Amino acid sequence: MRKDVRILLVGEPKVGKTSLIMTLVSEEFPAVVPYRAEEITIPADVTPERVPTHIVDYSGIKQEYIYYLCSPFTVCVCFRVPLILVGNKSDLVEHSSMETVLPIMNKYTEIETCVECSAKNLKNISELFYYAQKAVLHPTGPLYCPEKKE
Ligand code: GTP
Ligand code: MG
Repeated sequence: MRKDVRILLVGEPKVGKTSLIMTLVSEEFPAVVPYRAEEITIPADVTPERVPTHIVDYSGIKQEYIYYLCSPFTVCVCFRVPLILVGNKSDLVEHSSMETVLPIMNKYTEIETCVECSAKNLKNISELFYYAQKAVLHPTGPLYCPEKKE
């Protein structure tokens, strides 16, 4: 059984990574957010899967570094890192972004699921972190990728 789950939020600048974390914690949309949220740990007894969950805001760490961090691990050790594709700021769009998202999901099989949310409207915030926790604990895709072995 897993001891804990670590969720990293990565993405383009200003997509709302820090806002999503702060909204989850305070249950309200913060008017002002720091550049980067402190790492938070959600105790096991308040998570749906009863596993302590650490949430890390990757703002401020260069994308190259993230690539460096994930890529050798994925390729050499051959364990897949499950990804959740998050479409934040759904309050700003009238239509669902599924048409854009489906081709991306088909191309990258390591994406477990996608979720549209809005930190501003508190929509799908706890769900998003639950999906991420679930993706780690009960991944649906293969965890071992033989084609990447060498
Ligand atoms: P960096 O740390 O600079 O990479 O940005 P970030 O991804 O952490 O984004 P941040 O949380 O700082 O939010 C950027 C801007 O988007 C802020 O002005 C937020 O108020 C706004 N924002 C965040 N989430 C939402 C949302 O769901 N809807 C709307 N309308 N605005 C949002
Ligand atoms: Mg940030």
